[in-house]
Amino acid sequence: MLISLSKPKKAIHLSDIPPELKGLRILNPNAGATSIVLEKNASTVYVLTRDEKKKEWIVSGLRLDSKVEEFNIVNKRMRSFGEEPIYCIEMPKLFPLSAENKKRALKDIKEFERIYDTVYSKNLFKSRARQIQKMDVVPYSTEETLRLLEGQNQNNIIIPYLIWATSHDNYLNDIGIRNFMQDSSGKIILLDPIVSEEVHTYLYPHHSKW
Ligand SMILES: Nc1ncnc2c1ncn2[C@@H]1O[C@H](COP(=O)(O)OP(=O)(O)OP(=O)(O)O)[C@@H](O)[C@H]1O
Ligand SMILES: [Mg+2]
Repeated sequence: MLISLSKPKKAIHLSDIPPELKGLRILNPNAGATSIVLEKNASTVYVLTRDEKKKEWIVSGLRLDSKVEEFNIVNKRMRSFGEEPIYCIEMPKLFPLSAENKKRALKDIKEFERIYDTVYSKNLFKSRARQIQKMDVVPYSTEETLRLLEGQNQNNIIIPYLIWATSHDNYLNDIGIRNFMQDSSGKIILLDPIVSEEVHTYLYPHHSKW
């Protein structure tokens, strides 16, 4: 078996941190394929990302108390993708899930996945037959998943995201337990269930659109 020793590709690098934010503590030193999270103070963080969809979800989907500043820091190492703006999202500091919240989130993720997988493969097949190209982006999968999930469990914590996602396009779902956190009152927050198609193509250029 071949083992790749190269580091996983990232859509944001330490050198992308704007000069005025350098020196702040990094809260996700080991994660962060698409974001770098800096601690502003005890209750606020800056999330740096070139992912426009992630920014849109946090601002217009989550509707936490957030504001966005755009930086134009060109990173030549990343070719044309490095010319994309860096969004600096100021938002409340969140916390790892409690054991109880983790259990609830895992149950809801499982419920979502079971429905989504069926709907997605069915629609993938349909679209293939029609030779529609952009198969990573299947809006009607989201709509149908939402309908079925609401029928099964109206309280599933992924539903608000699916409602938001039905009016957006050019994204991929990224729903895994690592993307859930909780706020200071203990409410579960689906922090970044989404990757823009552009970021995904940059990170995984050889993935088939099918
Ligand atoms: N608002 C926040 N408050 C506190 N910590 C945060 C916040 N947002 C993100 N983090 C920290 O950053 C980590 C990863 O964040 P995020 O999921 O945004 O990165 P990512 O680039 O999407 O990584 P991945 O590709 O693995 O999902 C979280 O697990 C958490 O430790
Ligand atoms: Mg994430």
